[in-house]
Amino acid sequence: MSIASDYTGYKGLPELVGLHKMEEAINKGLTVNESVNRLKRFHWTAKRLSLILISRITSMPVYELKMAFSMHAHLLAEHVEPFFNRVREMREPPYGMDEAPHATLGVLLDEIQNAPTTEALVIGIYQYVIPSLINGIEKHIADNNKLFDHPTYRICKLALSDIKEIEDYGQTVIKSLISQDDLTEYHSWMCYLETSLNSIGGLDGTHPVSEFKPDGSFWNEAYVFDFIPQRDERFVDGFNMRVNAEAFLLDRDIEALPKTLMLYFKRMREINVPEMMASIVHETEGKPWEYYREMIRQIWDEARHAMMGEVGFASLGIDWKKIPMDVTWCHILNTELSNEERHSILFYIEQGLMPAKTGKKYEWEVAVATTNRLTELIQDYDWADEVLHARIGRDWIVPQLGGQEKALEHGNKAWDKALSNRYDQFELEGRTKHRNWWPEIYTEACEHWGTEPDAVILNFDISYRESRPDQQKV
Ligand SMILES: [Fe+2]
Ligand SMILES: [Fe+2]
Ligand SMILES: [Fe+2]
Repeated sequence: MSIASDYTGYKGLPELVGLHKMEEAINKGLTVNESVNRLKRFHWTAKRLSLILISRITSMPVYELKMAFSMHAHLLAEHVEPFFNRVREMREPPYGMDEAPHATLGVLLDEIQNAPTTEALVIGIYQYVIPSLINGIEKHIADNNKLFDHPTYRICKLALSDIKEIEDYGQTVIKSLISQDDLTEYHSWMCYLETSLNSIGGLDGTHPVSEFKPDGSFWNEAYVFDFIPQRDERFVDGFNMRVNAEAFLLDRDIEALPKTLMLYFKRMREINVPEMMASIVHETEGKPWEYYREMIRQIWDEARHAMMGEVGFASLGIDWKKIPMDVTWCHILNTELSNEERHSILFYIEQGLMPAKTGKKYEWEVAVATTNRLTELIQDYDWADEVLHARIGRDWIVPQLGGQEKALEHGNKAWDKALSNRYDQFELEGRTKHRNWWPEIYTEACEHWGTEPDAVILNFDISYRESRPDQQKV
């Protein structure tokens, strides 16, 4: 028995604040250099992967994956700065963190970005990179001295809990979407991923480096961002502009309860916002990471709002697949407007949600008046998130456009340009017949509520032909 192995604190209190037994503290630890080298790889992987996920939101047809990519991008984005800052705390500049810490890791992540199909993409992310990242961070915690490098231990531990959530969901993605045939088809892709990781000593660089090197890139073509929003086959009639939800909501002569449907519809239709914002983030280069982190947070919030609407419809026993969740907003903005115009429209709309009489507060009051707790909660959080989004807009797009007034004017004009004549155009192009879905859904909801449909409400028929969602003339 030595002093170290028998070591204990005052009256049996754990030594070293419980971080290590004394023996452990004496015997383990990484040098600052070793710790920094691993952190740089975690940093680069989190950053690249977050942006890769963002770049796939718009064109990802599967709704659940669109939502998952939004959340996973957000979780990863939140850990980029902690990894970066920890390196900065321990080292003098230059930190060399604007590029891949190892060329092959850079190429590997680029190839995941270039994956031409959903299957290849999810295999790369959820079967290889995320599990390797978790192994790396777990090993870092296990190898390190928690006393000497406590700040690193702490950020790794926090990152791990988020990234493990990504892995859990990722495993279900692989199980649900990857068939035995896919595994055969993508066999050489998986070999490439494995060889790449082995050739750099694993994602964290701590394993023996294998002699086999990947030959450069795997896919023949570089990824090109697809601006056209895609939805899976459950989404019908994507260009339908028949039901002006805002006109119904703002009609003070209509009682609160039927407005529930328009609130849920508006929430679920927010799916357009991540689809649009992803294009802004993807095209914007060279901003500080804070910009990306905040925009990605907002993308996740908008995705959450869409799912809140989904929850609402489920609570009424209404199948949302019967309702056209139109894709027109994102489609027009992404395919016809500049990055700045798109962002200014978003800003204009979000500033417009702040006035008490027509904005988020009003929607929340309608929700409260329905006396349904779920609707109230949905609108309460929708409103709260919008406060943050308006601030994000003020911080990033307002300075870019030369001040608040100019930004609003820019947004208003761009929105006008976006909406003029669309109703007729989409019909002429044969994209939609603007079927009036309202009477059917309202009647179904009345059955759920045990009420008789009201004739005036049943006949509601104001479209987006003449007025915008903010009730301005088109
Ligand atoms: Fe929103
Ligand atoms: Fe919202
Ligand atoms: Fe928002």
